[in-house]
Amino acid sequence: MNIRRQPPSILVFDSGIGGLSVYNEIYKKMPNLHYIYAFDNEMFPYGDKSTEFLIDRVNSVIEAITKSYSISLAVIACNTASTICLPSLRANFPFPIVGVVPAIKPASQITQNKCIGLLATKATIQRAYTTNLINEFAKNCTVNLLGLSELALIAENKLQGIAVDMQQLRYLLKPWLCLTTVPDTIVLGCTHYPFIKEELQIIFPKATFIDSGHAIAFRVYNLLNAQYDANKIFRSDRENIVLSTTYNQYVQKLIPKLVNYNLIKYQSINILGV
Ligand code: DGL
Repeated sequence: MNIRRQPPSILVFDSGIGGLSVYNEIYKKMPNLHYIYAFDNEMFPYGDKSTEFLIDRVNSVIEAITKSYSISLAVIACNTASTICLPSLRANFPFPIVGVVPAIKPASQITQNKCIGLLATKATIQRAYTTNLINEFAKNCTVNLLGLSELALIAENKLQGIAVDMQQLRYLLKPWLCLTTVPDTIVLGCTHYPFIKEELQIIFPKATFIDSGHAIAFRVYNLLNAQYDANKIFRSDRENIVLSTTYNQYVQKLIPKLVNYNLIKYQSINILGV
């Protein structure tokens, strides 16, 4: 008998809309998979939360999701969470977990002036994980770190149609504008930032911006290929799903915009049920 295997559901998770920048790359590479995009808007932003809180919270949200959905692979499309939660998630869940961490290594390979900028949340900047990445891959470079709490919200607002205040952005990035050597390569170490890349490029016209989306899509593709025959079974006729931890006006306005990402069906996550 020929048993038709259910296509795997791929979970992409973030605190907000930032993970869509990663989802987009994965979706472009594998449009036939079944996707669940989940975001913890109840606790957004993650950038100002303690490590203990985040480990507990991210594990609880993923657990709540697995109660209702069968997940084959999860992408923690959030640098702030990945740099601290991956070991516990990998210990708690049976499916592969892919994390997103700042693209320091590729940046160190392309910088010409050996001056890299890492733009991320305050939490990501402070993580030992980030320090280790820099020590391992960018020893021969000057790495300027800038942790900002405002940028993720600016990106969220842009997706909702609120234009970026360029004066505010310039003010936030002032520490780098005063440097004698301005980074020629800037790592977008928060998945929200690709959404404001255009504006960042206006402020740093000569810089090359790097994010992890493309590399993550490759990683997911390779992992799935090792597990399944990607080209044959990855055909899903199920609608892709959007989940959030709370439903509010913001989500209400966001849902129609997510149709452009082929995220069609909205549901909320009942985290209290864990
Ligand atoms: N998108 C998240 C990241 O990559 C964090 C945004 C936030 O919740 O502070 O770090």
